[in-house]
Amino acid sequence: MDHFLYRNGELYAEDVPVAEIAAQVGTPFYCYSTATLTRHFRLFDEALAGTEHLICYAMKAASNLAILKTLAELGAGMDVVSGGEYARAKAAGVLGERIVFSGVGKTRQEMRMALEGGIRQFNVESEPEMVALNEVALSLGLRAPITVRVNPDVDAKTHAKIATGKSENKFGIPIARAREVYAEAAAMPGLEVVGIDVHIGSQLTELEPFRLAYEKVADLTEALRADGHDIRRLDLGGGLGIPYTRSNEAPPLPVEYGQLIKDTVGHLGCEIEIEPGRLVVGNAGILVSEVIYLKAGEGRDFLILDAAMNDLIRPAMYDAYHDIIPVREPQPGAEQAAYDIVGPVCESGDTFAKARMMPALAQGDLVAFRSAGAYGAVMASEYNTRPLVPEVLVHEHQFAVIRARPTFDEIINRDTIPEWL
Ligand code: LLP
Repeated sequence: MDHFLYRNGELYAEDVPVAEIAAQVGTPFYCYSTATLTRHFRLFDEALAGTEHLICYAMKAASNLAILKTLAELGAGMDVVSGGEYARAKAAGVLGERIVFSGVGKTRQEMRMALEGGIRQFNVESEPEMVALNEVALSLGLRAPITVRVNPDVDAKTHAKIATGKSENKFGIPIARAREVYAEAAAMPGLEVVGIDVHIGSQLTELEPFRLAYEKVADLTEALRADGHDIRRLDLGGGLGIPYTRSNEAPPLPVEYGQLIKDTVGHLGCEIEIEPGRLVVGNAGILVSEVIYLKAGEGRDFLILDAAMNDLIRPAMYDAYHDIIPVREPQPGAEQAAYDIVGPVCESGDTFAKARMMPALAQGDLVAFRSAGAYGAVMASEYNTRPLVPEVLVHEHQFAVIRARPTFDEIINRDTIPEWL
């Protein structure tokens, strides 16, 4: 459920007409709903009620400070994967003790930054990383709290580019080697083993892969405890999928996922962390765009939008489906037409949808891409020197620009011309 609904014949974001935002901000823009963000965060929180837990929002999904602050105020911790994300989390007021640091390629500089600024734990992904972290921590006179990310070799049954839990993926250490690697970690004086980490992929639409992975983690917890490690925390990653279409998909609900967690690892008495990103913010955001031209082609009509692949890369990159709806509510029984919906970028890959049935649209009409809150704005680029799309946050009847559209001068002036030119 989200808060982008038709009312009085037009699309609203909570209590604000989307067209009104467009008139003030210009298109394209991303628009987020506070109520939807809040609701989705709470669904996880409620799903884990009765278990000591921290929901570390995977801020890679959408990392605007206003979104982070909204979630932090609800009690979220953060999962960060770079020094930049760490800095953003801190800037949004999140305490270091509520930030977990994931990622296969943390640099020493990033490690130092997090150790100095405070960190809940590093989710270590390899032995060389362990060695580096040990050295950095010792050089600062500190001990770095760690979990080791294990790769359980489970098929997440999702798009190949976002599956991470198979042995062929670059993530984590093979679970079969975990005892050996934990023994190495325990021997390093700059590291403090606090738990185990696992994350098997994103946009999972079944619970079974999670079950297989978490059962393996439960067995490993017992084995590591028997080896003398104080495993007190389990970071179970993110990955629960969302419905991108309104009809044919019904991914498991957070409450079912929470129950699965309790069933598989609940008996271990560990503090539970999860790292959801997409489910928290995906359906809390839309991308609003205007139809620039309606172009008749051979056997098809092109709807040319002012949003492009640089603004929302998911269709081009993962063949992802996004529902695209008119901002003006179509009349019941309105005429439908099949469109290829494309952006202005000079590549054929700049296609959002092919032969998509839509209510007939005209130049100047507004459309909204639904489910664009996660991996939308954060993956945008300035390809074709198109300014990064602004972001707007709605809260009931108010809205605010939470990231302004840069001017051409701002973009161009980031470049410098060497003196010899
Ligand atoms: N934790 C770790 C270690 C991750 O790598 C990820 C996502 C998450 C948590 C959050 O997963 P979520 O709950 O959002 O599924 N750009 C792609 C998705 C990439 C996901 C990468 N890792 C897309 O647009 O579909």
